Amino acid sequence: NRRVLVSPSLLSSDFGRLSEEVRAVEAAGADWIHVDVMDGRFVPNITLGPVIVQAIRRSATRPLDVHLMIVEPEKYVDAFAEAGADILTVHVEACTHLHRVLQQIRHAGAKPAVVLNPATPLSAVEEVLGEVEMVLLMSVNPGFGGQVFIERTVDRVRRLRAMMDARGLTTDIQVDGGINAETARRVVEAGATVLVAGSYVFGSKDYAAAIRSLRP
Ligand code: DX5
Ligand code: ZN
Repeated sequence: NRRVLVSPSLLSSDFGRLSEEVRAVEAAGADWIHVDVMDGRFVPNITLGPVIVQAIRRSATRPLDVHLMIVEPEKYVDAFAEAGADILTVHVEACTHLHRVLQQIRHAGAKPAVVLNPATPLSAVEEVLGEVEMVLLMSVNPGFGGQVFIERTVDRVRRLRAMMDARGLTTDIQVDGGINAETARRVVEAGATVLVAGSYVFGSKDYAAAIRSLRP
């Protein structure tokens, strides 16, 4: 029986009250804080950079789980680590030299993780499974909150967990996009250990009840 962590995505929070939102979601039981970094190139939306991560770091006591949806992440991983990111997750689709970027993240003092878009085969991470603390499977196409969960993700989680089991790895599997009480239950059953939820948590009146409903 694996532990399951909940990492609320600040993307759906009230950015005008960012520090209050961070504190509220931590008081409500968040294990990590998920921060979505978008550059308007890798994804068709722009969010925030290291300056804001630093501000979030000052309000947060839980680990910052920073999801980099940017091209050429190698140019920025040092700055995000410096800003206080605990986990830095890079897209395989954005890394020509994935192995090198993962080493760079570790050298910068953060935990390296890798993320796959819904259409990217699981084999894209096979050679780096031993180098990462977590694999994130996107269950929507990245760029926006509030999208519908892509059903195939459940089977992808199951196959990725089997790949890890075959290698004796207990690496975290995170799922991001369209997570609610129902989809959470199914991906956890398939082997996911970290759940990102944006609109489901921040769109609810009771953050604690929403977070509780995601746990098995
Ligand atoms: C999407 C982001 C997600 C997003 C999830 O590109 O990576 O973290 O905030 O939002 P929901 O939970 O609303 O699908
Ligand atoms: Zn995300």
